[in-house]
Amino acid sequence: MPESVVVGPAAANCWIVPLRGPGFGPRRCAVIDPGGDAAEIIARLKRRRLVPEYLWLTHGHLDHLGGLPDLSAAFPEAAVAIHAADAGYLGAAAEARHRADFRRVGAFDFVDRFWRPSPPAGRLLAEGDRLGLFEVLHLPGHTPGCVAFYDRAAGELYSGDTLFASGVGRTDLPGGDPQALLRSLRRLRALPRTVRLYPGHGPASRLGDCWDPFESLD
Ligand SMILES: [Fe+2]
Repeated sequence: MPESVVVGPAAANCWIVPLRGPGFGPRRCAVIDPGGDAAEIIARLKRRRLVPEYLWLTHGHLDHLGGLPDLSAAFPEAAVAIHAADAGYLGAAAEARHRADFRRVGAFDFVDRFWRPSPPAGRLLAEGDRLGLFEVLHLPGHTPGCVAFYDRAAGELYSGDTLFASGVGRTDLPGGDPQALLRSLRRLRALPRTVRLYPGHGPASRLGDCWDPFESLD
């Protein structure tokens, strides 16, 4: 079962996902969106005796990757992966991009308090990439490089900030695109209603139980 660690000042879900399937040793996992509170994430991993094979990012916003420098230092063999369109949020030169986001929402001290240079991506993701049993869905809109990690066989979707149990991602930050978000949400709407949703904030749900932004439009 995936486990959520609610991290950082924006209460982001960091998902610890045990990895199944061929090619994975025992006790391997992916850590999705280590947004902050790295010590707590590491403590949970140790408690479950899990070792991260990957550090996956659903997108580049700081509340989803603030814990990445410490996680990456603790598990240097874990590959950091993000969509190519959001790769500029990683690495030593990413500070300006994060500052632009938080300037937009008026949280001027957020970057000073929470940003530290993170390692660059070890792998750039694209639509259709396979990561073990997971498939990468490129879902731009909230940011240009938003992705979801979808395990079709298990019926699990890690949706980041594209879709929540009771809402959808904002598009007013730099790089946001409302029309792209609508197209991305339509893709998710075509998935089975029984798929379990593990979003970037808030409770888990099922696609069929989520607030449906298209209900009044159809
Ligand atoms: Fe976000």
